[in-house]
Order: sequence, then structure tokens, then C-alpha cells
Amino acid sequence: MARHLITSAIPYINGIKHLGNLVGSQLPADLFARYRRARGDEVMFLCATDEHGTPAELAAAKAGKPVAEYCAEMHAVQADIARGFRLSFDHFGRSSSPQNHRLTQHFAGRLAEAGLIREVEDQQMYSATDGRFLPDRYIEGTCPNCGFDSARGDQCDNCTKQLDPTDLINPRSTVSGATDLELRPTKHLYLRQSLMRERLREWISSKADWPVLTTSIALKWLDDGEGLQDRGITRDLDWGIPVMKGDAPWPGMEGKVFYVWFDAPIEYIACAQEWVEAGRGSDWERWWRTDKGADDVRYTQFMGKDNVPFHTLSFPVTILGSGEPWKLVDFIKSFNYLNYDGGQFSTSRGRGVFMDQALSILPADYWRWWLLSHAPETSDAEFTWENFQAGVNKDLADVLGNLVSRVTKFAKAKLGETVPEGGAWGALEQEFVADLGQRVRAYEEHMEAIEVRRAAAELRAIWALGNEYLQRAAPWTTIRTDPQAAAMQARLGLNLIALYADLSAPFIPDAAEAMRSAVGTAPAWPGDMAAALTRLRPGAAYAVPENLFRKITDAECADWKERFAGVRT
Ligand code: 2FM
Ligand code: ZN
Repeated sequence: MARHLITSAIPYINGIKHLGNLVGSQLPADLFARYRRARGDEVMFLCATDEHGTPAELAAAKAGKPVAEYCAEMHAVQADIARGFRLSFDHFGRSSSPQNHRLTQHFAGRLAEAGLIREVEDQQMYSATDGRFLPDRYIEGTCPNCGFDSARGDQCDNCTKQLDPTDLINPRSTVSGATDLELRPTKHLYLRQSLMRERLREWISSKADWPVLTTSIALKWLDDGEGLQDRGITRDLDWGIPVMKGDAPWPGMEGKVFYVWFDAPIEYIACAQEWVEAGRGSDWERWWRTDKGADDVRYTQFMGKDNVPFHTLSFPVTILGSGEPWKLVDFIKSFNYLNYDGGQFSTSRGRGVFMDQALSILPADYWRWWLLSHAPETSDAEFTWENFQAGVNKDLADVLGNLVSRVTKFAKAKLGETVPEGGAWGALEQEFVADLGQRVRAYEEHMEAIEVRRAAAELRAIWALGNEYLQRAAPWTTIRTDPQAAAMQARLGLNLIALYADLSAPFIPDAAEAMRSAVGTAPAWPGDMAAALTRLRPGAAYAVPENLFRKITDAECADWKERFAGVRT
């Protein structure tokens, strides 16, 4: 049995995420986790909230709450929405956990011992108006790399370049808008990642199977300008993990905390410790320590493209630099951006659909299907209401939903209460089953390779093939002349529902459950296609399920388009 460790980038705590965030990491990670479980593999699927740094502090201040209280509340909100989308995390942790505090301080201690941390007398932006230093998101300005006018002090969202507050053109405080900024001295710790440049290059270059998006971003930052820069890993903030060398104080660093991007990826590991603490498992080390069994684990990370530099450079430096046998990532699946209706999703302007709003208008499966089948893999993608309506109505309602309702209703009405008996497959069935077998193997290949759009296209083709078969076999006509053949065709149709439930479950788990419960099957991945399609015993009970999917009307589309155009209500 293969073992898969899967992590999704951990979303910032500062509010409810939009559909672009969802499709960039959590949702495809869930698709893969569900697929691996369905194939009988042992899976550890982890995610958490990213609770430190300026995003958390700024959002808590805006909400008028103490940061710890704000984070606890928002964690519960995000966990609830994740359940709503059926994200099947084995644990949804918190980067502010005691486990992450200890582990982050431990890593810092190890890195210091290895000579990979240097203390720097730094100059940081200070605002006299605000009476404080302005690290990271406390400062905004124009990106020196691409000219984007709302680049943040730590990174430009437009071109993904990692920045320092001092790089910004026309910088201003995000707290007060003040521009009376000055440089003031303060001491900080720097991670000497430049020392590991060649080791990182060797490691990244050995990953021939990684998506081009991942390796191109990684190599770009490795060779950018003078090459990989050392990064400050501490901040003058109140909220965060206190700077310590293991469990010993760090002289001169009192009152400072680690940078959010230093402790966030460490939470991937701490999250597994939280999983044990929560009573969900007993051995986290067999997932994370190569000396304790994790050497046969395959570790896959999911993230948006802006997260790639941290996962290909900084976090590996932490892991490798510790000199300890921690599990290193095997495959990094990264995503481009999903845009919204001719522009960008915008959290600050409330433009686009946010996860809670999405669930308030339609069930999770509708969103899961559309988002995954339009995942921004090879380029940015765009959400439009017309496209969403067309995808849902055609793929889900007209093709899959229609097949399920047609088969069950016909069989109930004409062939009795139980799975009909009699008749044998003819040439049409043999050909159909052979075609289906080929498509299912292609679907598996795309899922193994985490080619999300291709997998969705194949699944769509698998559904369509079933409809074509029924169209050609036409049991509703056959029954007039050959009731035995009609019984066989309906039975095959009922078996198809069982098969489609298993194949579709990673994409649309709720509909899959409804299909399974209609035909009375338990999850089972199909091996031999003929066996999979003769699974239902003649005489077994089945039910006509409620309509699986409803159609989205033009009026709804127009209404939603207006509602989500901006300024979240
Ligand atoms: O971009 C983000 O939303 C970050 N919170 C992702 C962190 S991923 C990781 F490193 F933990
Ligand atoms: Zn930029």
C-alpha cells in the first residue's frame, strides 16, 4: 500500500477565502487525496490556518478584536466552510499551536548551530505617525519589478517577486496611509539561503517531472539578479512565535517574533503533531521523519504560484539546513490565478465569489466540478457566470444527472422494483465496455499525474460515453420487441451509475454518495471493466434518487453577476 503525504498551502486567517484561493490549493489537494484513498493508498492530508504576521494583526485590528481571539474565531469559520466544501483534511490545524511554536524554535536553533543564521543590524521602515516599524503588509507601494501600484512590503501579488519594504517606490503605511517613513536601526536574523544555492539548484534540477510553472519560478529566484538573497526571518511585531534558540532565549532578540513565512511551512509538520494531540492518530513521525518510516512516503504539496519561492527555496533550506532527517517534498503542484469576470478576484474590494457565499447559493459539488474542470494549470483562467452556468447545466445536469434519472426511472417504471434479470451483452455492449475501459485507464493516468483539467475532461467523456450508449441501445424502444435485451440494458445502466459514483467521487463527493445510495454500493475502484459493470446482483434493491443536479437559470445568473460585482455585503 503506497503512502501519500499531501499538504495544501495554509490559508491566511484574515478572512474568508475566495474561489480563486480555493482552486489554487485546497480543492485540487482534496481531489488528489480523495483519489489516492479511493485507490486504496494510505493518505495523510493536512492543512491549517496561517495565523501569524501582518495579515492576522491587520485583520484583527480592523475587526476590533484581540488577535488571539480573532484567530480562534476565524479558524472555526474557515474549518466550517472547509467542511461545507467537503475538504477531507485528516487535520485542519493552526500555525499558532504550541506544537508549531516549539518546532519553529527548534528549527531556528538547529539552523543557528549549522551556521545558517546571521544576526544583522538592519534598517527597517519606521512610521513616526504610527509610532512603529512597518514590516511586510504594514507597507504598500509600487513594485520596482512590474510597476503594480499595490505591491506589499513582502511580495508583489502581480509578478510574485519577493520584496523588502525598502524596495517599494512611493511607500505608504497601510495602517494610516502615512508617507512620513524613515529608516531606523533594528536587529534581525537572516536565513543564509544563499549558502545553499547550489544544493537547491541540484535538488530542483533533479525534479524532471515537476510542472514547468513550479521549476521555472524556482529557478528564476535562484538566479534572479545577484542570485538567491538571504532573507530576514524575524520581525518587530507583537503577535507571532517568540524568537528563541530551541528552548533557550536568543540574546538581543527579546520582544521579536519569527517572520510568518518562516513558521508557516513548519506548520505542515506541526499539524501532524496536532493530529496526534487531537486523538486522531498516534504516530506523526512515520509521515515526517525519514528515520522513522517516512522514507517510503510520497509527499505532494499544492499551492498558488505566489507561494512557490517559499516552498522551493526557503522551506527546503529550513529542512535541509537542520541536518535532521525530515521528509522533503517529492512533487510540487502549483497553479496560476483564477480571474473573476474580466478582472481579478479582490478580497479588499469584495469582488468575486467568496467561499461562504458560494455555498449559500449552490451545493459544493457544483463549485467543485466547475472549478476543478477549469483549474488554472497551464495559464490563468477566468470565472464568468455564463461559463459556470454552461458547465454545470451541460456536464452535471444534462449528461450525468440525466443519465442517472433516466436509467432509474425507466427501470422502475417498466422492469420492476429490483435490478432486472435476464439477457446477455451483445456487440454494442462489448464495444462500449472496451471503450469505457480505455477511457478509465486514461482518467487514472491523468489523476496519477495530477493533471486536473485533463482528468476532468476524461471524466466528462466517460459520462458522455454512457449517454451515447443508452441513446444507441434505447431500452425504452427495445422493451417493445425484446424485453430480455431491455432488462440487460437497464441493468448495465444501473451498473454504470455504480461505476460513475466511484469514478466521480473525488470531484463530486456528495453526488457520488447519492448515486451509491441509490444503487446500494460501497466505494470500490474499478479494475476489470466487465467485472465492474456486472457488479449489481439481479434482484437487488435500488432507488430512484432525487434529481442530482438542477439547472442554473438565466435569471439567477444575471442576479448573481450583479451581486458579486464588488463590495461584499
Ligand atoms: O499565501 C498564503 O495564503 C499563505 N498563507 C500560504 C502559506 S503556505 C505555507 F507555507 F504554509
Ligand atoms: Zn510586481
